[in-house]
Amino acid sequence: MFGLKRKNTELILDKIPKHIGIIMDGNGRWAKKRLQPRVMGHKAGMNALQKVTIAASELGVKVLTVYAFSTENWSRPEDEVKFIMNLPVEFFDKYVPELHKNNVRIQMIGERHRLPKETLAALEKALEKTRHNSGLVLNFALNYGGRAEIVETVREIAQEVLDARLNPGDITEDLISGHLMTSHLPYLYRDPDLVIRTSGELRTSNFLPWQIAYSELYFTNKLWPDFDESALKEAISDYNRRHRRFGGL
Ligand code: FPP
Repeated sequence: MFGLKRKNTELILDKIPKHIGIIMDGNGRWAKKRLQPRVMGHKAGMNALQKVTIAASELGVKVLTVYAFSTENWSRPEDEVKFIMNLPVEFFDKYVPELHKNNVRIQMIGERHRLPKETLAALEKALEKTRHNSGLVLNFALNYGGRAEIVETVREIAQEVLDARLNPGDITEDLISGHLMTSHLPYLYRDPDLVIRTSGELRTSNFLPWQIAYSELYFTNKLWPDFDESALKEAISDYNRRHRRFGGL
């Protein structure tokens, strides 16, 4: 029994998921537990993101797509939205230089038009500064909603059919994939192999609904600001164990 238990907790990291999606949840609860305002949780969440990005990059992960703000998050109190929207500005000054040194490339998905001017400017600066980097892609999902992404894709494809540039019979999974916001990612890594959600919630909340059709899902009770390199390794190890079982069948 003891042996079995040890075996189950042993970290197995031989197969690294190339694309990991993360739903960074629990910032508010983390702050509340410390009797701090919710926004302090987001600040701590940004720190956690920095550390996890560097750890993932060292492990050989190619793409990290992080859910930073959903289209539904606009309904939060105005002050909190303002604070989150200001994070990319702080992120650019304090965090991007270290990521740049680590050869990390920053990209984003989501509706840009509704983002405040300064937020967009900070993100675009980060995208521009790191565009020649060839390491891990840190892909921010900001003002992102998965169903809206699919609606937009259907509209584009319908227009191509209407313009007689495309036959309905030529619509394939690959073609749809090439119209989604993730189409800018390296072709082989467009879809996450593993999706992690922190804070014990068991939902995917409109995060990449098309792209995660075959992803392994990993849920942990840890709140996002507490998620660190060892938590990432545990998640990858869990993914490996599932993978190994699958391979053995
Ligand atoms: C969910 O926790 C978290 C968010 C809505 C924001 C996540 C943002 C970051 C971690 C920073 C991202 C960095 C940049 C540069 C944009 P919650 O507030 O829903 O937590 P709760 O469920 O405990 O209330």
